[in-house]
Amino acid sequence: MSERPRIAVLGAGHVGPAIARVAIAAGHPVTIAASGDPAKIALITQVLIPGAEPRWAADAVEDADIVVLAIPLHRFAAFDPALVAGRLVIDTMNYWPPTDGVQELFEDRRYGSSEIVQRRLARSTVVKTFNHTGYHELEAELRPAGAPDRRALGVAGDDPGAVDLVAEVVERVGYDAVRLDGLRHGRLLEPGGPVFGASMSRPEFERAVSAEAA
Ligand SMILES: NC(=O)c1ccc[n+]([C@@H]2O[C@H](COP(=O)([O-])OP(=O)(O)OC[C@H]3O[C@@H](n4cnc5c(N)ncnc54)[C@H](OP(=O)(O)O)[C@@H]3O)[C@@H](O)[C@H]2O)c1
Repeated sequence: MSERPRIAVLGAGHVGPAIARVAIAAGHPVTIAASGDPAKIALITQVLIPGAEPRWAADAVEDADIVVLAIPLHRFAAFDPALVAGRLVIDTMNYWPPTDGVQELFEDRRYGSSEIVQRRLARSTVVKTFNHTGYHELEAELRPAGAPDRRALGVAGDDPGAVDLVAEVVERVGYDAVRLDGLRHGRLLEPGGPVFGASMSRPEFERAVSAEAA
């Protein structure tokens, strides 16, 4: 029996399956759900994410230690916060008006998108990561700990215990986790920020975020 945290991935588009695959490879039990009947994702799960268990979203979350939210932000307004109440939620989502359209909820530029997600998921603990790397790179760029070309990923959250747990997942999957001080610094990981889409080592990443956070 695995002692790795159980991960439920909500979203079976581009990002969800990529995260599910790397999590399975790292030894995590993984369930995955889209917005509806798991029968609709049974075949792609079997072919693209062997080892993951397709479920209804509520069933996927039920026994999960960590929930990965990998849905487009234009679908977030219809997402029921009660589904993930009391859960640690990894927010992989980006606000991208060219594809999401203008979403009033995310137009308040005083806040990063994950702060807005956290406010709406008030009974969950939100940690932002995996949002600033392309889904197609996630497997190609992972490396074992200590590899000279291992890439860094930022991990931002307000709850230090939750950040530690998520950072362990990031490290286990194959990236150096760089902890950012609070969800508000998750803005540094967003589109237009200094590390978005960039492949950087830990020192490069730390320099890039500290220059902006200063
Ligand atoms: N593309 C990238 O490289 C990349 C990288 C990092 C982060 N992101 C971010 O990751 C998020 C997902 O992007 P994507 O490209 O994977 O999107 P996508 O391909 O459009 O996939 C969307 C998935 O979300 C599911 N979904 C929607 N509402 C749901 C709900 N309430 N519960 C469960 N599942 C739900 C959809 O299920 P149905 O088919 O049943 O509707 C579908 O499986 C976005 O916010 C994006 O900004 C993208």
